[in-house]
Amino acid sequence: MEGCGSHSVRDYDARVAENVRLTERIFWMTFEAPELARAAKAGQCLMVFAPDGAKLLGRPFEAADADGARGVISVCYMLAGEGTEMLSRVKAGETLKIRGFIGVPYPEGRGAIAAGGGVGAAGFILARKTGAASELYVGMPGRGCEDFAAKIKEICPDARIFTDDGSFGEGDSMFKVLPRDTGGRDVWCCGPIGFLNAMKRHYAENPQNLYFSLDKRMACGYGGCMGCVVKTSGGLKRVCADQSLFRADEVDLNDY
Ligand SMILES: Cc1cc2nc3c(=O)[nH]c(=O)nc-3n(C[C@H](O)[C@H](O)[C@H](O)COP(=O)(O)OP(=O)(O)OC[C@H]3O[C@@H](n4cnc5c(N)ncnc54)[C@H](O)[C@@H]3O)c2cc1C
Ligand code: FES
Repeated sequence: MEGCGSHSVRDYDARVAENVRLTERIFWMTFEAPELARAAKAGQCLMVFAPDGAKLLGRPFEAADADGARGVISVCYMLAGEGTEMLSRVKAGETLKIRGFIGVPYPEGRGAIAAGGGVGAAGFILARKTGAASELYVGMPGRGCEDFAAKIKEICPDARIFTDDGSFGEGDSMFKVLPRDTGGRDVWCCGPIGFLNAMKRHYAENPQNLYFSLDKRMACGYGGCMGCVVKTSGGLKRVCADQSLFRADEVDLNDY
């Protein structure tokens, strides 16, 4: 299947190598998918179809890790509703339909700072691992998130973890240390709306450097349905085919 962008989109039947719970609501799922694992770029997503695929559209998740040598690719997902509930019950050894790649890779070589709120950090883990991002900041609630933090550190040992309750990590807020002066570097962020608004306030002086990775609801995943359109000051953009990062001052979060 050819996608709208320059990349091709294909469906695969992939064996689940692991599906482990990292927090009460966050899971880590790894697929055996050598072709995808070798080609993975940070910012791209996989569409994962729940076992009862006839009933449900695929659910998009960012590629959170990829190991071309081992032929495995992982997503980090949070329980949201029916589809992710079904995914959470999948056992290692089962086969799921996955579609990849969806979305536009993050630009490389800009030394960007990446900041994620909770599971919003998923795609930035791969971005830091591949060097697309030069620094990674992650905020999470705290107690109960130890395995999530450990997974991030296992892949990106220099990731900086902050916890709302201060129970572990480097402190209770990344905003105390996130450099306001980025020396012209981009700041990419992804997470709940409250987190994106806090980033906007933090970078109020230089909004031109701040970019949002928006999890807009998707249907087809390859540019055909217009289901993922975001209104920007430059017109309507599809998250799956046109753009992965949106300048903070080109989108209206109230509309999102
Ligand atoms: C490009 C992209 C990347 C994403 N990456 C991740 C990720 O790495 N980890 C992660 O946990 N989540 C990610 N999401 C969000 C994830 O796709 C949804 O949480 C998931 O599809 C919800 O499915 P559900 O059946 O459990 O929920 P539903 O019962 O369908 O809905 C529960 C909630 O999720 C929202 N939702 C449902 N389907 C989608 C969808 N396709 N896209 C966005 N929101 C949706 C609904 O509006 C509702 O608020 C991403 C979304 C997009 C578009
Ligand atoms: S999900 Fe169909 S156009 Fe983007």
